[in-house]
Amino acid sequence: MSTKNYNRYTVTAALPYANGPKHIGHLAGAYIPADVYVRYLRLTGKDVIFVCGSDEHGTAIPNQALKENTTPRAIIDKYDALIRTCFEQLGMSFDIYHRTSELIHHQTSQEFFLTLYNKGLLTEEVSEQYFDEEAKLFLADRYIVGTCPKCGHTNAYGDQCEKCGSTLSPRELINPRSTLSGKPPVLKETRHWYLPLQNYEPWLREWILKTHQQDWKPNVYGQCKSWIEAGLQPRAMTRDLDWGIKVPLPDAEGKVLYVWFDAPIGYISATRALFEENATGNFRYATPRSDFSKAGRDDWKKYWQADDTRLVHFIGKDNIVFHCIIFPVMLHASGEFVVPDNVPANEFMNLEGDKMSTSRGWSIEMHEYLQDFPTKPDELRYALLTNLPEAKDSEFTWKDFQAKNNNELVAILGNFVNRAVVLTQKYFSNRVPQRTQLTETDTRVLAALKEFPASIAASIEAYRFREATAGLMDLARLGNKYLAETEPWKLAKTDLDRVGSILNIALQIAASLAIVAEPFLPFTARKLKGMLGLSELKWNAAGGSDLLQTGSALNEAPLLFEKIEDTVIEAQIKKLVDSRRAVELAQQPAEPAKAEISFDDFSRMDVRIGTVLKAERVEKSKKLLKLQVDTGIDVRTVMSGIAEHFTPEEVIGKQVTILINLAPRKIMGVESQGMILMAADKDGSLRMLLPGKPVEPGAQVG
Ligand code: 2FM
Ligand code: ZN
Repeated sequence: MSTKNYNRYTVTAALPYANGPKHIGHLAGAYIPADVYVRYLRLTGKDVIFVCGSDEHGTAIPNQALKENTTPRAIIDKYDALIRTCFEQLGMSFDIYHRTSELIHHQTSQEFFLTLYNKGLLTEEVSEQYFDEEAKLFLADRYIVGTCPKCGHTNAYGDQCEKCGSTLSPRELINPRSTLSGKPPVLKETRHWYLPLQNYEPWLREWILKTHQQDWKPNVYGQCKSWIEAGLQPRAMTRDLDWGIKVPLPDAEGKVLYVWFDAPIGYISATRALFEENATGNFRYATPRSDFSKAGRDDWKKYWQADDTRLVHFIGKDNIVFHCIIFPVMLHASGEFVVPDNVPANEFMNLEGDKMSTSRGWSIEMHEYLQDFPTKPDELRYALLTNLPEAKDSEFTWKDFQAKNNNELVAILGNFVNRAVVLTQKYFSNRVPQRTQLTETDTRVLAALKEFPASIAASIEAYRFREATAGLMDLARLGNKYLAETEPWKLAKTDLDRVGSILNIALQIAASLAIVAEPFLPFTARKLKGMLGLSELKWNAAGGSDLLQTGSALNEAPLLFEKIEDTVIEAQIKKLVDSRRAVELAQQPAEPAKAEISFDDFSRMDVRIGTVLKAERVEKSKKLLKLQVDTGIDVRTVMSGIAEHFTPEEVIGKQVTILINLAPRKIMGVESQGMILMAADKDGSLRMLLPGKPVEPGAQVG
């Protein structure tokens, strides 16, 4: 257990790979809890910085460029902008959201590498690694896929299995194949620089296993313990790649730093950039901070090197080893940096009974949520917070999202605030009424109110954000229950003084809610403060019974939340199912080729372009349309099985491709004199085969 006295906080949230959009599982894993923590710390007046940014190196980036047929640079620019905007719209209050492609990051990473190198702490080793002979490239990390030795997933990456979350190395994969050529790789010798993790085992045992047994989450502690017990191995810190940060040594042509070497250093470079931008006033990635306007460029060092700085990394469980073992070893070995005091990693959030995965089309991407619910960032924050995978994997369902919104945000928090404010408008001309004689209920409720901020704070400080969120809603429940018990609306005619006291107390509860809601529901808290005319107050003001002065005016009171209807939820579930289906279809291989035929076989077929003159449904058949087709030679009847895909109106007047020398057949009592040719998509839907430009009926196809 750490007993240190900390005077400042450096809080980081995992740098997301800028190789694609990020989903709500990422939010639940790292970003939302980190944001709640930091907003809370700021409210308590703590000296805190909150850094994040895009992770723009590693094989994930060029791999995606390959898929999108573009350059790595275009990929990082596109996804950095997308992720950055989503984070902003969801209220992530980073002091800086930086990018690892920036020069200052390249320099910081190279300096870090050289510090370790010059101290003689990196070992140089030649080993055999997988190589793609066609692409002429070594296949690191995500350039290689194969079957996961742990769970059998057939598309595991060379560094990690996305299905079971295991950390892997390429040599562990069963049936490895290159993502560049799709071919099995060969082994070839190459030289790299390694961090000998095994040398730090005693230090890690002391630092994690002894010191942090009590205060690290069991899932985090457990993973570290099994890594350490399994025996630590040297870990390559460089790669043969042309995308990344150049290894700063003379004999390292074609070598770059391993992405997991440079990415966490990204937290440090982001901090440097934060102070640089505040010192120069040239803001590119940082949010201006008035308290930093006089800070110097070098003040970043305090946040990383001073012993009284508490470093906290928020991450998802797949990042544990990097943040608890590898990066701390790097920090410790450099001799200049503090190591994390805590790494409150979350497990994964599943979605509607299955693992969340962008590539499988089973996810809710941040930008898609924001497109569909642009005015509801807090509603998502709340649904995630009440369901964080803190101790084990959790599950997001749209029904639960709806229930949390309708039954808690609307029915409890929104309803309470609305009743207090509307009754004040009605009976007291929108001014905070006076509190006179207190009843026993009043005293009990005011005493209970006082307890809330400390108990919510204790949950946040222990990284129990679900519990903290429940505390926030319990405070709204207290208010709701108080109004239900005291029923001020029934007393207006007989005892307006009493109504005044009740509403005064209700409004004091609402004011406390406005303060303590800020970390969780920042947009709502701002609205609520506006409604109550409440100034910016610190956390320790919450729970007070005189936050609003008697006689002070309230402002306009729009509803804080609105009900979400079933149809909206059903549409989201359908969207999800459709997107998975689309991915499955796209991945399904095309039908295998039929047996070879001769040119003669082919040329015996007489295929023409015709025009549909008439089309009608066929009685007792769901599938058939009866068509009259002008073939250029004659007008003939064709029975075509397309009725489930086209209405008669859709085909009349259209040109079609028709096989005209197929032997006539009787179908449903009608002689069909040919066959309309169509393209069948993977999902079985039919598309017409049309000439690029209209042609005269009878035009030959061949
Ligand atoms: O897993 C990921 O998305 C990584 N890009 C996280 C990096 S966190 C840090 F080290 F930068
Ligand atoms: Zn696996």
